[in-house]
Amino acid sequence: MQRIRKAVFPVAGLGTRFLPATKAMPKEMLTVVDRPVIQHVVDEARAAGIEHLIFVTGRGKAVIEDHFDRAYELEATLAARGKKAELEILNAAQPGAGETSFTRQQSPLGLGHAVWCARDLVGNEPFAVLLPDVLVLAKKSCLAQMIDAHRETGEKTNLIAVEEVAPDQTHQYGVVGMGARKGPAFEVTSMVEKPAKGTAPSNNIVTGRYILQPEIFEVLEKQERGAGGEIQLTDAMVALAKTQKFYGFNFEGTTYDCGSKLGFLAANVAFGLAREDIAESFRSELKRITAGSK
Ligand code: UTP
Repeated sequence: MQRIRKAVFPVAGLGTRFLPATKAMPKEMLTVVDRPVIQHVVDEARAAGIEHLIFVTGRGKAVIEDHFDRAYELEATLAARGKKAELEILNAAQPGAGETSFTRQQSPLGLGHAVWCARDLVGNEPFAVLLPDVLVLAKKSCLAQMIDAHRETGEKTNLIAVEEVAPDQTHQYGVVGMGARKGPAFEVTSMVEKPAKGTAPSNNIVTGRYILQPEIFEVLEKQERGAGGEIQLTDAMVALAKTQKFYGFNFEGTTYDCGSKLGFLAANVAFGLAREDIAESFRSELKRITAGSK
């Protein structure tokens, strides 16, 4: 079974839902507690044993590259001042030399196009895609859970992380149809993007974590523009599903959609309350604020 060594992070989107915050700063650099959203997702990938991090960036996203580089002046100053704890925080988040690659999407033509831009960096091996919009609060890295499940679905299979939502909410998401179970996963029988109310094949929605086979690139190469005039990853997965199996996997953990204001605020609360160092005082602060609001 081929190991999943590489992960792709599509970070070239415009982040229009967060204007004006994202006018000069990428939305992936917005902070949840004390680290940028993208770092939470990179930490999840590294905890799953990913060895190479591939970022698909665009104009105005150079700060993401800087974030994952060493900051010599800062490190030297911290060392000179004996700030060991702060240095350790920086070191823990630091990918090693040669473990990151950056490529540019050039035009935001859609998620499918962004993934396709990573084709040469990924090469001919299965790989993970993590959308930095989605943060997962979990005991065990969501991607690590997926890699375990993927071992059971077998060689040349694709795996999509899914989660259940209330049936009256499915029209907002990509939804999968459920077939036979295989180990911890189930066979995906169909994929529909934003189905009309009452027509969804299940209430399991696609959540922004994928393990894909490299053949997806051949499909993406020829993929026409779909919904919103964008090259959609879902359309390419539907096409690839004709020749390869796709499985859905309900992971353990709670997701937060950091691409939306509400999800982002909720993520800050949830991740803040999950942090031992601040949980207690944060909880009292939240109580104080909510007691005063109607
Ligand atoms: P979204 O559509 O949620 O992101 O794409 P967006 O376009 O940045 O956000 P809004 O809707 O304008 O606020 C999901 C993920 O895919 C990436 C985004 O960066 C985001 O992480 N993406 C999207 C690309 O890399 N390229 C694209 O062309 C589109």
